[in-house]
Amino acid sequence: YPEDDPAPLRPPASRTQSKSRNSSVTGRMTVDDFEFMEELGQGSYSTVWHCKLLATGQEYAIKRIDKAHLKRHQKEQTALAEKNTLVRLGSGHPGIVRLHWTFQDEWSLFFVLDLARNGELQTRISQIGSLSIECVRYYAAQIVDALGYMHSKGVIHRDLKPENLLLDDALRIKITDFGTGKLLDSGGEPTKTFVGTAQYVSPELLEHNESSKSELNMTPSRPATCDDWQKIKQLEYDFPEGFDEQAQDLVRKLLVREPDQRLGAGSTGSPYDMRALRSHPFFAPINWSTLWSDPPPPLE
Ligand code: ADE
Repeated sequence: YPEDDPAPLRPPASRTQSKSRNSSVTGRMTVDDFEFMEELGQGSYSTVWHCKLLATGQEYAIKRIDKAHLKRHQKEQTALAEKNTLVRLGSGHPGIVRLHWTFQDEWSLFFVLDLARNGELQTRISQIGSLSIECVRYYAAQIVDALGYMHSKGVIHRDLKPENLLLDDALRIKITDFGTGKLLDSGGEPTKTFVGTAQYVSPELLEHNESSKSELNMTPSRPATCDDWQKIKQLEYDFPEGFDEQAQDLVRKLLVREPDQRLGAGSTGSPYDMRALRSHPFFAPINWSTLWSDPPPPLE
């Protein structure tokens, strides 16, 4: 397992003055530094809890990963990749869940993450049926912006889907779950491992078992007609009646078999800045420079 805590992930200074009886004498954090409140969600080998750091009262989401489960399924590398990916992303973007600290005990690894108080975007979409076009535009723009940052750091998520898009206090996007994250070296080497979720997988991942920064599959609603891999490979999908024309145009330009031909995937100029994607007419009403301070449209 990773020996914990590179320099940026040290406990806060206030902690060392904490009077907590159970505080670790090693200076590392332990579970006793936190109050564990309700469960926020479950993954295949982890559980996320709403927690409070006792020393400061600050709230976080703590992902607890079961070591025995990791070992049994030979997923140690997955946890390590998740941590390395989050460390590389740092605190550099408001749209990406930040890793504050890590620690471990005999049974578990713990990742202390930003709390996204408003949960999964998926849950909201299910509650209200579908998002207004203004919401789709706003959230799509935030996702594009966060992905642009991620890719500039050589990170590809590889399992982007509504369940991994969380909403913070201000109902802005926070991308989470980098358990499938991949770090690219400067050459942008593709990878040969299958990861991800069947419904949102890219054609090249199915056919050649390769992923790239062009993986983005950004339909504003679940691509319900892409219900099997054959349809993904054939790019078989259709638009519901009344689907915004410019959104249709955008989706058509993104769901292209050749990864390099997808809008925003070009590697000319500043690499992977997604300029062509940001300039698409669908995003014309978006002010990219105030995207993270503008209030979101009403979620309805
Ligand atoms: N569920 C999974 N991760 C979460 C997070 N960081 N905040 C809130 N809910 C979550």
